[in-house]
Amino acid sequence: MNTIPASEELLGAGPLLRTRAYLNGTWTDAADGAAFDVFNPATGEVVATVADLGRDDVRRAIGAAHDAWPAFRDCTAKDRASLLKRWNALILEHKEELARIMTLECGKVLTESRGEVDYGAAFIEWFAEEARRTYGDVIPANTKDKRIVVIRQSIGVVATITPWNFPLAMITRKVGPALAAGSPVLIKPPTETPLTALAVAYLAEQAGFPPGVVNVITTSRNAEVGLELCENPLVRKLSFTGSTATGKLLMRQCASNLKKISLELGGNAPFIVFEDADVDAAVKGAMASKFRNSGQTCVCVNRLYVHDRVYDEFIDKFSKAVSALRVGNGLDEGTQVGPLISEKGLAKVKRHLDDALAKGAKVLVGGQALEGLYFRPTVLTDATADMLIAQDEVFGPVAPVFRFRDEREVIELANATPYGLASYFYSRDIARCWRVAEALDYGMVGINDGMISTEVAPFGGIKESGIGREGSKYGIDYFTELKYLCFGGIS
Ligand code: SIN
Repeated sequence: MNTIPASEELLGAGPLLRTRAYLNGTWTDAADGAAFDVFNPATGEVVATVADLGRDDVRRAIGAAHDAWPAFRDCTAKDRASLLKRWNALILEHKEELARIMTLECGKVLTESRGEVDYGAAFIEWFAEEARRTYGDVIPANTKDKRIVVIRQSIGVVATITPWNFPLAMITRKVGPALAAGSPVLIKPPTETPLTALAVAYLAEQAGFPPGVVNVITTSRNAEVGLELCENPLVRKLSFTGSTATGKLLMRQCASNLKKISLELGGNAPFIVFEDADVDAAVKGAMASKFRNSGQTCVCVNRLYVHDRVYDEFIDKFSKAVSALRVGNGLDEGTQVGPLISEKGLAKVKRHLDDALAKGAKVLVGGQALEGLYFRPTVLTDATADMLIAQDEVFGPVAPVFRFRDEREVIELANATPYGLASYFYSRDIARCWRVAEALDYGMVGINDGMISTEVAPFGGIKESGIGREGSKYGIDYFTELKYLCFGGIS
């Protein structure tokens, strides 16, 4: 079962290439011997065959994590910070191998995979620092004979369910704060990208995390494993990144034991270019945000609103930049747009395009699928609000452009969605910048900036884009419980 991938030599990943799950400090197969294949979306080839854990395996893993909790919780914050710092250093030391594994299993271009290693490691570094600042409070008491103190304690075993579009950073953004606060973690990576998760778990083992503290559950039996993670009362917190539909299902399942839950879900990001914008800067921001990971991020621009007065200039510059993008295998240096993750992802992009064309949109650039899972970067004009592409995230390299004439009108259009994750706008008028930033119904607003993700700021959405925030000084709050201590009888 423990297949050595055909492409190991190419990768040069050595011991980082793991195909067994990592439970309680042991590299392990599924109890029933099941396994599943991992594919390279750039070529369709099988990269590796990985242990396919079932519900009983997961139950045992949860038990082991729970047993590891007291000792890990009770070690000093400084000790936990040291473990995290060692892990961070090892991840950065192995940046190239990790980036190649990531590209191989998710198709992301190599420069972006390298960037994701840095981005992902930054969460571990940040929370190593935050570990030592989980302060409590002393509250002036309501009577003379009392003293009131609030402490923050580890929440207990944390389960994370992470997506394929950021195989490394969405793990570290969740487990960084959990581990910093003293919680063992169960990482359930997606079926598409388990290898990056296993590689970072190997580095966690090398960093010295005790058995049971970091666990990776590889599986294709997502429904039964998800149910166990939600319903098992020993798991005290579930943190999920993925689609809104799955987030709602997990929330319903977690309701059975009122498990604490953080959800980072879908978006439908508007990108507004006002008539006073620096158009060149807006084109640069739109390119960075729209085509990152071939358009497969929750914060990718989904709808471009351009003011009538700068419409022609923007369209001309944007379409030239999009035409120049190089599409290909992410392992080839110089590729800028890789494949989509799956046939399902490709079919969604085609569905959105067909719907837009049927409702009057025009293709200015691209507009076709290429061989395999590739889609040519596309610009659509004459987009309207009734199109599927205006209502739902396309999750692919298609940019629909809408024309607008009035600030109030565009804010209404931008907010007319159940989602509320990221939004962007470009303007040089400071009063407008404040006004629009406050009026946009989103958890995050990029003002004259198309790349807003960083470990130092709170990432998360409102409305149907989720619950909670990740990263920043706020991120660790979601992995601790407040406890109020009341000391009586003090004379
Ligand atoms: C996501 O797409 O879920 C995360 C994007 C990011 O962290 O920038």
